Amino acid sequence: MLKIGDIQMKNQVVLAPMAGVCNSAFRLTVKEFGAGLVCAEMVSDKAILFNNAKTMDMLYIDEREKPLSLQIFGGEKDTLVEAAKYVDKNTTADIIDINMGCPVPKITKCDAGAKWLLDPNKIYEMVSAVVDAVDKPVTVKMRMGWDEEHIYAIQNAQAVERAGGQAVALHGRTRVQMYEGHANWDIIKQVKQSVSIPVIGNGDVQTPQDAKRMLDETGVDGVMIGRAALGNPWVIYQTVKYLESGELIEEPSVREKIDVCVLHLDRLIDLKNENVAVREMRKHAAWYLKGIRGNATVRNQINECDTRNQLVGLLNGFVEEVEAKMQGNAQVV
Ligand SMILES: Cc1cc2nc3c(=O)[nH]c(=O)nc-3n(C[C@H](O)[C@H](O)[C@H](O)COP(=O)(O)O)c2cc1C
Repeated sequence: MLKIGDIQMKNQVVLAPMAGVCNSAFRLTVKEFGAGLVCAEMVSDKAILFNNAKTMDMLYIDEREKPLSLQIFGGEKDTLVEAAKYVDKNTTADIIDINMGCPVPKITKCDAGAKWLLDPNKIYEMVSAVVDAVDKPVTVKMRMGWDEEHIYAIQNAQAVERAGGQAVALHGRTRVQMYEGHANWDIIKQVKQSVSIPVIGNGDVQTPQDAKRMLDETGVDGVMIGRAALGNPWVIYQTVKYLESGELIEEPSVREKIDVCVLHLDRLIDLKNENVAVREMRKHAAWYLKGIRGNATVRNQINECDTRNQLVGLLNGFVEEVEAKMQGNAQVV
């Protein structure tokens, strides 16, 4: 089982942090599908210290989501430490995670995110400063390296451990790869073998079977799922069940998918205002609809809608259309 510091997870399945996605509305929904640990979207250290209103809202946690890991990013020790102290004292997050994987230039040019992967000494220095300043367990999420010529995953994970970090989540890609190619699970296995803190494996887990294969092949303590959960919190439930019993749970019906999409929408409206929530929900709705035949028209219409009523009307109309087609097909048979 996955245990980080004193925090015992009920299983090994972890929702990955995803910017613009993993707010409380989505996390709670995924949590209800059984995730052992949910991770919040990354938050800028400086924005916390500037008391930026939007950022402060991002720190909102619903107690039902816990255990929860809250991720911060930054390039300078002082601000990172101060932001970590703020999260430590003013939120009910269980774990403080430091981002060392974000590949986007806006972040890396500030010496944050994946930039640290080039320098195990900096990792040691930053992580130990944060660990010394807070009570909550500190973890790090990293990529395996900057590029193929600079893969210091083992040294970097060891630096985290020496600095007092309580776990490492490793995405088996380099910064340069962004999201291309395949995640390298072999390096995840090597990292697991070279530290004694828990290691969470991440990258390209799309199905329950992938999750089991990652656990079996690499020996990691937990398995982190990101993109496969977009519009598909069921993958978490399916994975938890599969790891528990080997049972493969069926795909949800279109009605079930849309009902959960609307639940997610309503939570987002509670969290933000209707206008912001509906706009943000457009991309989620497209993800919920992914793979359902004949969704092109409704997806285009969703991109134009601004209110809850419009969005829910379109979604329900689509479900009725799909159900009518299915009935028609059944009658033909
Ligand atoms: C939309 C999106 C946003 C992301 N935001 C973050 C983030 O805020 N912090 C982070 O550490 N990783 C972030 N990631 C990376 C994921 O946590 C994960 O490492 C990556 O998607 C690989 O896992 P997967 O193959 O299961 O998707 C993000 C990924 C996506 C697709």
